[in-house]
Amino acid sequence: MPILEVDSLTVDIDGEAGRRRILDDVSISLEAGEPMGLVGESGSGKSMTLRSILGMLPPGASVVGGEIRFDGRNILTSGPGGRFDQRIRGTGISMVFQEPAIALNPVMKVGRQITDAIAERRGLSKKQAHDLAVELMDSVGITDPDRRARHYPFQLSGGMRQRVMIAAALAQEPRVLLCDEPTTALDVTIQAQVLDLFRTMHQDEGLGLLYVTHDLAVVAQLCSSISVMKDGQIVEHGVLQEVFDDPQEEYTRRLLTATPRIDEGVDDVGLAEETR
Ligand SMILES: Nc1ncnc2c1ncn2[C@@H]1O[C@H](COP(=O)(O)OP(=O)(O)OP(=O)(O)O)[C@@H](O)[C@H]1O
Ligand SMILES: [Mg+2]
Repeated sequence: MPILEVDSLTVDIDGEAGRRRILDDVSISLEAGEPMGLVGESGSGKSMTLRSILGMLPPGASVVGGEIRFDGRNILTSGPGGRFDQRIRGTGISMVFQEPAIALNPVMKVGRQITDAIAERRGLSKKQAHDLAVELMDSVGITDPDRRARHYPFQLSGGMRQRVMIAAALAQEPRVLLCDEPTTALDVTIQAQVLDLFRTMHQDEGLGLLYVTHDLAVVAQLCSSISVMKDGQIVEHGVLQEVFDDPQEEYTRRLLTATPRIDEGVDDVGLAEETR
């Protein structure tokens, strides 16, 4: 049984111009240990899909149809009073947001934010939790983690905050990790290190990964399957290599060709040719 099943999810949002459908019959099935890429142009609904899964839709947005099953249970209604089951957050499903501002508490030292996530989950002493937090910060490429742990989010660069967020999400030992452009703000070396860490997590720990990015090269390196979104719908889904080799949708084909060729060197990029 898949660990996470989004089944015909439909979401509307009320705005100044009236009610609008932002997710239309979205279905995604993720196995434990499966890394799936979720791609599509800006505004296609990738972030809203992830936020629905975490029960964190923006004001005005509501689920009007479908189910989201975690371990077979519909978390949209399995919480107290038939509402979204918030207990799923953290140890069940954790998320690395597109905007770190949503996830980090501005008035709490970053080390403490990770430590809290760990202590809660594993019943560790303060010292043990601190040591683990420092270890995690080190594993996402934060140099001098002992010192940085004592900083507030505003004292860190965007890329550093992003890494703190990844460490905090992993600290909770989730079974599914939702990632929204988690490495965009990182330089290439750190990005490679974080991708390695994700790879270890799904291969060794069975972490299910739903990974949103514009960077198809990252999808190619990390994911085994891919779902393509357009206008709030999944228009194509399949095994990564098959979709890359033989996309069924014109839209997918355009997305793939809009990106520098993944399996060839940078020399093959059209732009480089023209400027030569
Ligand atoms: N806070 C919000 N209030 C109202 N509408 C929103 C809000 N956030 C997103 N939307 C709308 O929902 C739709 C889906 O947006 P979403 O943020 O999921 O796109 P996305 O695929 O993540 O795009 P991007 O690649 O730019 O991050 C878009 O039409 C967008 O305008
Ligand atoms: Mg987005």
